[in-house]
Amino acid sequence: MTYEELMQKAIEVSKNAYAPYSKFAVGACLITESGKIYKGCNFENSSFGMTICAERNAIGSAIAEGERKIKAIAIYSPNQDNCVPCGACRQVLHEFCESDDKLDVIVKIGNELKVYTLAHLLPESFSL
Ligand code: THU
Repeated sequence: MTYEELMQKAIEVSKNAYAPYSKFAVGACLITESGKIYKGCNFENSSFGMTICAERNAIGSAIAEGERKIKAIAIYSPNQDNCVPCGACRQVLHEFCESDDKLDVIVKIGNELKVYTLAHLLPESFSL
């Protein structure tokens, strides 16, 4: 699975986003170290704080299947280029990777992909 293909799946799943309040749709598609693929979109609630981000939705599906190590995650919003994960999702990604510098976060800027490491996005990350 190439990063282009991973992004294509993130684009597809962003169409299922439930975002009637923010109107900000997001899709995420991750690949685990074992090569499995999981997708997620954001889903909001009239009680705004209950909103779940696309990234954590995808991560939850992976965890439920017994996966624990994420290799890369592609994130897409039709509303914004360079749709990087929020701070909360960065911390959750940190929980489920081999190391921050081995987890790639892929975003779209125009027609180009940009790849960050989680280490770049979440310096001095917290662990117990
Ligand atoms: N959102 C995500 O799904 N992922 C992010 O990393 C940033 C924010 C969603 C949450 C909410 O439904 C909408 O985008 C606006 O914040």
